[in-house]
Amino acid sequence: MAILLTGGAGYIGSHTAIELLNKGREIVIIDDFSNSNEKVLENIKKITNKDFKFYQIDYKDREQLEKVFEENKIDSVINFAGFKAVGESVQKPLEYYFNNVSGAIILLDTMRKYDCKKFIFSSSATVYGNPERVPITENSRVGGTTNPYGTTKLMIEKILEDLYKSDNTWDICVLRYFNPVGSHESGLIGEEPKGIPNNLMPYIVRVASGELEQLSVFGNDYETPDGTGVRDYIHVVDLSIGHVKALEKLEKEGQGLYIYNLGTGTGYSVLDMVHTFEKATGQKVNYKIAPRRPGDIAACYADPTKAKEELGWVAEKNLEDMCKDSWNYIQTVQRR
Ligand code: UFG
Repeated sequence: MAILLTGGAGYIGSHTAIELLNKGREIVIIDDFSNSNEKVLENIKKITNKDFKFYQIDYKDREQLEKVFEENKIDSVINFAGFKAVGESVQKPLEYYFNNVSGAIILLDTMRKYDCKKFIFSSSATVYGNPERVPITENSRVGGTTNPYGTTKLMIEKILEDLYKSDNTWDICVLRYFNPVGSHESGLIGEEPKGIPNNLMPYIVRVASGELEQLSVFGNDYETPDGTGVRDYIHVVDLSIGHVKALEKLEKEGQGLYIYNLGTGTGYSVLDMVHTFEKATGQKVNYKIAPRRPGDIAACYADPTKAKEELGWVAEKNLEDMCKDSWNYIQTVQRR
């Protein structure tokens, strides 16, 4: 029985592929390389010394997707095939709703046709909008998303809730990621945003490497200890292990719709990140204080207790590990 990873060549998909292969699981990856490339697949094989089947297809292409289900015994699906750039989603709302929401519907409908009903969905802390309080538990109010990307996550969560209500033979797990950073310790795979990055860690590493001149710290007048924005940064390897644990729960217990926050439970400010990065890597990060970025909130971090109690999962890597591994990866990219 195989696990299908849609978007499995992407940042979080590829790291999860490694954790599954290391556990001796059989996987099938589909990806259209819209935000990844073939090299990632070779590197997954190099790191794990294991092989897997791959199809270069768009997960919205129902005919091709059905072929994957015909040719493999797919028992469960982890859906990583979402567009994820907040700013781009504002410019291209139709592309985002079509790829993320319509894509999820096509995937779920195809799964139903093949009686494959174990589904893990990559959601995001963005569904909490501006949180009422921190740390955020899974029972916190959702809604108030400020961009199409966030709204697609919320819509898909709603679709999954209705699907489960209509047919409780589905086993569904929604994972709400906080801020994934870092990369595999080998330095062979990691995050490669196209163009100038929007997210903090990819920006910091490019300033440290000299590729970008200066980091703009967006606002130092928030109600946080040092005035800069606070987030829950989580190492991508910890996050990937969270998927393996979620899958094991569905396989053992099944028949339910579960929602988990995947975060460390600790919030760090932008300046904490800059200083920890400098300490962990010995590199200087040139920065200036700039105005707040529209749509940003002061603080967002998880209460990860539920994942600990029900999945037996806790994030183990610290901020220094995240900084070191992110730095390690950018250096291997720049050596290519
Ligand atoms: N920041 C800067 N300068 C930069 C980039 C970011 O100061 O150049 C600050 C932001 O203002 C914020 C923090 O760094 O305080 C983190 O910003 P990111 O862009 O890295 O992350 P966000 O928390 O804004 O967004 C992330 C994911 C989204 C997800 C969201 C909510 O990128 O996909 O968390 O969960 F929707």
